[in-house]
Amino acid sequence: MFNIQNIRRQFPALAQNEGQEALIYLDSAATTQKPQVVIDAISHYYSTQNANVHRGSHRLTAKATSDFEAARDTMAQFIGASSRKEILWTRGATEAINLIAQTYARNTLQVGDEILVSEMEHHANIVPWQIVAAQTGASVVKIPITPECHFDLEAFQARLSSKTKIVALAHTTNVTGTRQPIETVIKLAHQVGAVVVIDGAQGIVHETVNVRELDADFYLFSGHKLYAPAGIGVLYGKLALLETMPPWHGGGKMVEKVSFEGTTFAELPGKFEAGTPNVAGAIALAKAIEWLQSCDRIAIEAHLHRLQKLTYQALQQLDDIRVIGYQPNASILSFVMDGVHHQDIATLLDQQGIAVRSGHHCAHPLMDALGLTGTVRISFGIYNTEQEVEQLIAAINKAVDML
Ligand code: ALA
Repeated sequence: MFNIQNIRRQFPALAQNEGQEALIYLDSAATTQKPQVVIDAISHYYSTQNANVHRGSHRLTAKATSDFEAARDTMAQFIGASSRKEILWTRGATEAINLIAQTYARNTLQVGDEILVSEMEHHANIVPWQIVAAQTGASVVKIPITPECHFDLEAFQARLSSKTKIVALAHTTNVTGTRQPIETVIKLAHQVGAVVVIDGAQGIVHETVNVRELDADFYLFSGHKLYAPAGIGVLYGKLALLETMPPWHGGGKMVEKVSFEGTTFAELPGKFEAGTPNVAGAIALAKAIEWLQSCDRIAIEAHLHRLQKLTYQALQQLDDIRVIGYQPNASILSFVMDGVHHQDIATLLDQQGIAVRSGHHCAHPLMDALGLTGTVRISFGIYNTEQEVEQLIAAINKAVDML
């Protein structure tokens, strides 16, 4: 049963201004606040279990290793992977995309090949492709958006060809919360033999994902938007693809035997996990997943959609404010106030205890397409309430009066 007050009580960060002006945190698309169980998992690990993994021969390392690998099992189950070998720990979504670009893409792309990338992507799903394109002679081709800030399927199909080797797009975008048609894109891309990379950083927070049903070749996300700590993320890749990919970072644990004559590499997933990993992060991410799964995710999503809709309806009453690319059934909403810099609005909201993000949201191409330099973005998390929406609207009204 979804009880918002019960959920809020589990997030200590929300209570930090108790007695004064309460913190209203509306920046969960940038990073979520963390529930106590996740904070406790990190604290417990460092208080009682801290050791390096897959090394050493003492009790602590054995326990750390088994918990670290159990976290991988939790993750494989969470996304429906066929094998735990398909789950690679990374620092986050950005590192995961760079890993694909510098291993799979760099090893397979040739001059004239194309990487199709949606115009709505954030920089982490554009720049790694530009870097590998420059290294290989391939090119990055933009898939434009429709006026409604949707992925333009017709334009995509027009650009899809035998030259298309990789298609990269977000499950859900970070500025407008657009749910992109990943299922259709995957099917169409596979018809021309292209590999599809889905950036699930925003999407997996709000939807149950089954990578096998989706048939995604790569699906990746970070922990910190999923109520887990920063510095840990997941790259899922189909086993057959991961097996053909050369390693990226070299170092300990990713090797089988090192000699100056030549080195052989470890089996998956170790081959892509050089050096000491973020053990506490992986364990805490698994804890966050278990915690999220203990909540009623359908009720939570309905709640978030209601908050976003209430915000949209209230903003529509304000003359000078324009909502950008409104998406029903989303948890994100972006707006601008004509003639006023987005940062000024965010600052005035911050002065009233309301945390929002303003700026280009690491999505310059989208801003260019929209003819904007930035927006104010409201993004809801599991802990937000209708009362907070009322306070937000009152604060925006106050800000508008001051501007
Ligand atoms: N990509 C994150 C955001 O949208 C950081 O805020």
